[in-house]
Amino acid sequence: MLKGNFDIPLDFLHTRTPPLIGVDISASAVKMVELSESPKKNGYVVERYAIEALPKDAVSDGNINNLDAVSESLVRALKRMGTRIKNASLALPAAAVITKKILLPSGLREEDLEYQVESEANQYIPFAMDEVNLDFQVIGPAPGNAEEIEVLLAASRKANVEDRIAAAQSAGLKAIVVDVEPYAAEMAFDQIRAQLPGGAVDQCVALVDIGANVMNINVLRNGQSVYTRDQQLGGEQLTQQIQNVFGLSAEEAEAGKRNGGLPDNYESDVLAPFRENVASEVARALQFFFTSSQFNEVNYIVLAGGCAALAGLDDAVATRTQVNTLVANPFAQMTLSSRIKPRQLQTDAPALMIACGLAMRRFDPS
Ligand SMILES: Nc1ncnc2c1ncn2[C@@H]1O[C@H](COP(=O)(O)OP(=O)(O)OP(=O)(O)O)[C@@H](O)[C@H]1O
Ligand SMILES: [Mg+2]
Repeated sequence: MLKGNFDIPLDFLHTRTPPLIGVDISASAVKMVELSESPKKNGYVVERYAIEALPKDAVSDGNINNLDAVSESLVRALKRMGTRIKNASLALPAAAVITKKILLPSGLREEDLEYQVESEANQYIPFAMDEVNLDFQVIGPAPGNAEEIEVLLAASRKANVEDRIAAAQSAGLKAIVVDVEPYAAEMAFDQIRAQLPGGAVDQCVALVDIGANVMNINVLRNGQSVYTRDQQLGGEQLTQQIQNVFGLSAEEAEAGKRNGGLPDNYESDVLAPFRENVASEVARALQFFFTSSQFNEVNYIVLAGGCAALAGLDDAVATRTQVNTLVANPFAQMTLSSRIKPRQLQTDAPALMIACGLAMRRFDPS
């Protein structure tokens, strides 16, 4: 496989397999997962995981605004993990990475190829070349033209990559893989697809991730993304509602949402309307997908992100959309180490899609 001679490679295009932990630095928390290989064929063992909350605005829109806060959460998470592994795979938000397929003449020598890639990249990347990390992978002969090859370009602003690597470093971790969030989520999604009847071959599955601030819908067919869209909607809105209605602090509202103990009318006056709002936004997002693609059916909806753990959300979405809806658990077919509490993992699993996909990079055969 070819590789650019660039200083911090965007490794999601390449193979790496030393022991590592998946580290997801997201808006609400840092999340870590360590997997090992099980003696069962193609099986995994969940060795350890940790979720450590981040203060509000420490990370927003995928940018690290408060390096110290991120670093502290990473240190706490690592301590809880109790792992000896120091290698980490990280992910950049999709918005921080530009990918583009280009065509180049076939038969170029490696140096010439690198030169051509750089000069082509110039046209597509809206930043000065010394501000970006650039990487590429030769996909193969161009369809229908033996004289050309298809090359996948990936570029990210150095600042985005470096911030994450610095955060990891400050916690004693070494970033050896830098992936992109949707790719990591798709890798974990393979674990979920395997749980669907017939592996959902030739069917459309909508992976709907509802996090703290963003709802991302990613429609996959045979494991490949065919449509994706983000919108501002997430659990933070529910937390705010709880604060306003019951006069609670953000911390109290967050704890109440997760562990119960809120007043009796929480369910009817706050949670139910939020669930209905999410369900109608999911239905609307599916309509957007149908109008902008050749597809007119989605066979399954898989709910991911922290909000997927909200009681009754799956039922509300299924009722509104009339599509089979399930809550993501990429660990469902994995063996759990005795350290793991199965009930807690079940609750946390939907928010761990990206960390899980990143941890799977340890065994990535591609
Ligand atoms: N067990 C739970 N019950 C209810 N809500 C939960 C639970 N766990 C997490 N959440 C909520 O999910 C949200 C965080 O989800 P997640 O960790 O997927 O977000 P994120 O990836 O950090 O954010 P984003 O994707 O918006 O950048 C928070 O609003 C949190 O309150
Ligand atoms: Mg998220």
